Amino acid sequence: MAHNYDWFNTERTTLEQAGLRRHLRTVMSAPTGTINLDGRDVVLLGSNNYLGLSTHPQVITAAIEATRTFGTGASGSRLISGNSELYTTLEANLAKTKNTEAALVFSSGYAANTSIIPVLAGEGDLILSDALNHASIIDGCRLSRATKKVYRHCDIAHLKALLSESATFRRRLIVTDGVFSMDGDIAPLPDIYEVATHYDAMLLIDDAHGFGVLGKDGSGTVAHFGLEGTDIIRMGTLSKAVGALGGYIAGSRVLVELLINTARGFIFTTGLPPATLAAANAALDVMRSSPELRQRLFSHAKYLKTALANLGYTLLPSETQILPVVLGNPQRATSIANALLAEGVFAPAIRPPAVPPDTSRLRLTVMATHTEAEIQQAIAGFAKVFPPLITDN
Ligand SMILES: Cc1ncc(COP(=O)(O)O)c(C=O)c1O
Repeated sequence: MAHNYDWFNTERTTLEQAGLRRHLRTVMSAPTGTINLDGRDVVLLGSNNYLGLSTHPQVITAAIEATRTFGTGASGSRLISGNSELYTTLEANLAKTKNTEAALVFSSGYAANTSIIPVLAGEGDLILSDALNHASIIDGCRLSRATKKVYRHCDIAHLKALLSESATFRRRLIVTDGVFSMDGDIAPLPDIYEVATHYDAMLLIDDAHGFGVLGKDGSGTVAHFGLEGTDIIRMGTLSKAVGALGGYIAGSRVLVELLINTARGFIFTTGLPPATLAAANAALDVMRSSPELRQRLFSHAKYLKTALANLGYTLLPSETQILPVVLGNPQRATSIANALLAEGVFAPAIRPPAVPPDTSRLRLTVMATHTEAEIQQAIAGFAKVFPPLITDN
């Protein structure tokens, strides 16, 4: 007899009752300051297109030209026939931007993390992971079969305590987000680097949200702190400030060689589309040569943060373009997000497992391409929604 799939319905009901059921929305325009969402124009406060590069004319032209020359797909994995010269150009550009010997591009940031962590650590090794690290790091740790210990968020004393009991492990790896994706705070890298050096641990930084935004030329969190750290392994993504798709690892040439030979998420998948590679490469050039985009981004972030605080909203003490308004339970976050949407403001609710229990929130992000009028419109929406809905809870 065929399997009875009734349990699908039961699972869905359970999610619904917990306030955790997700729905897809349809975006009918490019990710600019105002988007058409399900047929309505709304101000977008939930995009990672921080610098607006996904719609930059130079980037779009590069993508179109690459498609004309190389077609729409890579048609093979990189080790077989999918390694076009666009990869060589992009990886050289990335290594230059990150100031490392070499770089290697993966299909996504998720693939980069789940690929590199099992290469760096395996059975008999210890991984120290920040409590608020991204899911792709958590999954990479699971795949590695190494022992994982989670240290309290940005808690250097806790990290040290765990490392002080790690002598029996073959190798140690510390892994942390550079900018925390849901909180917007920045990891204390100089302290972490010092601890890593002291305990002879490898250090992997996931700079998905710092790349393009922090440091000289937007090269990321390591540069933000002025760290030399040539032994810091830098992971990042081309899907956020760079406005395209793909993940990368930047580090030594020998590390890249090792990844090409052993990283399963690199080996067993098809290469990225030519348009994506060319777009990312052009975006890196724009990113480096456009400090005004970063200035605008930070000025918007500061303005919105101050305005929301003046309205009475409580924001986490983020130092970046990610502005979290923590609201508690998932139902509350969803109802406030829906009320904002009705006012023409798309401020997505983020719920577990993306964030810890009881910290459901609105994760607001600004973009350099927001106009002042759009930011004002968003603030007006927040002013209308607050305080009734929040005090009603
Ligand atoms: C910190 C962090 N790492 C990795 C990723 C995965 O990157 P991608 O979306 O390119 O797969 C994300 C994306 O949400 C992220 O926030």
